[in-house]
This record gives sequence, C-alpha cells and structure tokens, in this order.
Amino acid sequence: MDQRHQSHHRPQHPNSNHHDNHQSTFKRDMDDSGRGHFQHKRFRPGQNHHPAGPSTPPSSPPTQSLSIQRQLYERDFPLYKQPVEVGHFSLDSERRFFNDARQLRYYVEPEKSCPNFDLRDGYRGRFVKRDDRVKEKLDHILRWILANRSKLQSKDTAASSSPCALGVDIVTWRGHLTKLLTTPYETREGWLLAVTRMGGTLYISEVETEAARRDRENRTERHEEMMYWGYKFEQYTCADDAQSLPDPGGVVNTNEAFCTVVQTRLAEHRLLFSGEVDCRDKDPKAPSPPANYIEMKTSLEISTPKQRSNFHRFKLLKWWAQSFLPGVPRIVAGFRDHDGVVVSVETYHISKISQLIKNETNCWKPTVCMNFCCEFLSFVKSVVTEDDPRVVHLFSWDPHRDVTYSIHRDSQYSFLPDWYVREMTSSTSRETHHHPPQT
Ligand code: A3P
Ligand code: MG
Repeated sequence: MDQRHQSHHRPQHPNSNHHDNHQSTFKRDMDDSGRGHFQHKRFRPGQNHHPAGPSTPPSSPPTQSLSIQRQLYERDFPLYKQPVEVGHFSLDSERRFFNDARQLRYYVEPEKSCPNFDLRDGYRGRFVKRDDRVKEKLDHILRWILANRSKLQSKDTAASSSPCALGVDIVTWRGHLTKLLTTPYETREGWLLAVTRMGGTLYISEVETEAARRDRENRTERHEEMMYWGYKFEQYTCADDAQSLPDPGGVVNTNEAFCTVVQTRLAEHRLLFSGEVDCRDKDPKAPSPPANYIEMKTSLEISTPKQRSNFHRFKLLKWWAQSFLPGVPRIVAGFRDHDGVVVSVETYHISKISQLIKNETNCWKPTVCMNFCCEFLSFVKSVVTEDDPRVVHLFSWDPHRDVTYSIHRDSQYSFLPDWYVREMTSSTSRETHHHPPQT
C-alpha cells in the first residue's frame, strides 16, 4: 500500500534546503579555472560517505526539501573524477541485451563542410521507431551488473559489509544525471525520480510525469519527424566498422544502441551509470574509451545574434551536461535548415564549452550544475535510509519549486525486478562464482 508522506512544496521557505546544512562539509579542491577538466586525486579515507549523509546526525530527521536556487550552488567546482569505462553493452534491433560492443559505430567525417545531408530521407519507408510507451527502467543496466558482478565487486569485496554490496553508492542512467545537472536552469519540464536502497546502493530510475506523458501522446507529425532527424544524421556519419562507409540507404532503427558503463566519483558519491554512445573515433590509435567516443547532434543553423545566444544559453547546456558526465570529449554537430538539410558540420570540444559561453549574459555555469547534482545525491542519501527493494522514495521537482519527496511501499513505483533482487540477495558463494545467463 502507498504510504504518502509529505509531498507538498514549500516555496515560502526557500532556504529550508538541505544544502545549507552541508555547505562546509564537502571538500572542494577544484576552483573554477578547473572547469571542463576532471580530477584524478582520490578522497582521503576519512572522507568516505556516511549512510545517513555527511553531516546529518543519526537521530535528526532528514530535511524535507531541497532548494534549486542557483546562487546556493555558485561555489568551487566539486571533485569529479575522470570517468572510467568499466564495461559496455549493446541493444539490438529488437532491443535485446548483449554484453558486448556489437552496436558500436565508427565516425566517418563528411567529405564536404556543407554536406547537404537530407535528414528527411527514409522517414516514411526506412524507419523503425522504438516503442517509447515501454518503460525499461534500469533493467538493461541491472542485466549488465549481473553479468559483470565479479568485475565490480573484486575491487571492493574486502571493504563491503553487506553480502550484495556493489561498491558504489549510486546506480542510474546518464540521462537521469543530465536532468539533475540542468535542473537549476530548467524552466519548462519537471521530473520524477524513484529511488530504492538495496545492499547499501541507491538505485535511481525516472518515472514519466503526467505532463511528459501528455506531450508524448500529443506530438505533432512535424515533431515526430524532427525526432527522426537526429538519428538520420547519425546514419550519414557512422559506419558499422572502422573500414567501411556509412550507409544512408539502410534502415534507421532506434531500438539499436551501444551503451557505455562508467564509474566515477562526484565528491563523496561513488557513481556507476550507463549512457548511449553514438560512435567512436575510427583511428585505431585513438585513446581508450570513453576518450575516443563522439556524440552526434543536430541543431537549427544559426543566422542571428539572438539565435547564437539561445544556442549558447540553452542547447549547449544540455549538450555539455550529457557528454561531460561520461567523459565523452567531443560533439559533432550538424546544423540544418528548416527542411532538414544539413548545411554545416562543426566539432565542439567539451572542455572548451565553458570558454565559448563565458561572454554570454545570464548564462549557465558548470559549477552550479555539478554542485546541485552533488547536493541532490546527498539529500537522497540522507532521506533514503531504509534498505528494502520494495520501498521507493519518489523525488519530485517542478520548475520554480523545491525538490520534495513521498514514500511508497509495494507500489506501482517499485522498479527493481524480482530476477535482480533474487540474484543479488542469493548466497555469497553464488555471488562471486555464478554468472547468470544473458537475456
Ligand atoms: P539530436 O541530438 O540531433 O537532436 P542523442 O543526441 O541524445 O544521441 O539523441 C539522438 C536523437 O534522438 C536526437 O538527435 C533526437 O533526434 C532524438 N531525441 C533524443 N531525445 C529527444 C527528446 N527529448 N525529444 C526529441 N527528440 C529526441
Ligand atoms: Mg546524439
């Protein structure tokens, strides 16, 4: 039965936030000049995370809401370790999981700076669209975890007290973290994030908001077609192997995906997350993943100063957040006209984006994004203390509001599947030696 606790917003108390309690407790050894770079330095042992949050005394109840006011997060850039790829997986044309890189593609630079790619081509006859009514939650990542448990646990087994401890604090999709990073600047779309603690690890899985469902069900034909354009651009620029050329005559199937799984640390939060990667550098001498990965994007061509400013203030924020998180260093952007014809292609280096936007007034700041995300994760840790796969804390945010939450037991929001819970809570001998079948 659902047990709704406080789910009301408290806008009249903008400072009733968790962040104030914690402000001085984090080590912040990167100043703003370090933006765009990662930190290799490790935390000292004394700075490891505390289950109830770094500065919440065990007896005091957690704060009920978290403010998103930007000025609260304008401080030094938090420690963000260089993300390390610990694995990858592929989803085929029928969305089946494979614990390998069969769907990884190779970037082929367009021959001309004005390639005239027609992004509308194939929309009617050569397009298989993933069914976005199906909510996969964390399932693919959980499959990857079961198939690679020994890899993950070998690093941490000595330190772990729980039989199913993974050695990470947070498991989630990169896309959910992207939403957190951009929250202080988001004015249109709210979010719902379901959180469950199991074996000391917090699993974070998005729940579709009512507004998002309505938007999805009421997309115009034009919008539906424009969503295809981004994938079509990938098809024009990506090949199946390092020796071959792209095949623009083929079918675009958005079920297919290659996902990287990375491990990193944001302040005291040990993160394991996965994100889709569009392609890699085809040079065999390219650096190892994720440094050889490339994100493909499309955007309307920029013709006026106002358009340039909007591109910097809104689009580059999303692009930066998405690629910075997994350590993908480059974006290749195809600028198109209103008819879906690509008129120019440009490369953006993630580490140079903060320079590019610095003269823009009213612009976003990487440090605000990262500090907010860090603070949200601390808030979640302090709130979600009950270790139970059937319990979900649903964190909710709407633009111009604080983040609040409600608690749900055995509800529609429970998202850890039985096959995962069973496998993770089975005996220790199975845990280290058993390799579950890949489905
Ligand atoms: P663009 O990025 O060129 O817009 P991604 O860029 O994250 O790899 O996603 C690939 C494409 O999926 C996007 O290409 C876009 O076409 C489509 N897409 C992804 N997220 C979307 C969203 N929220 N709304 C509409 N289209 C989206
Ligand atoms: Mg892309």
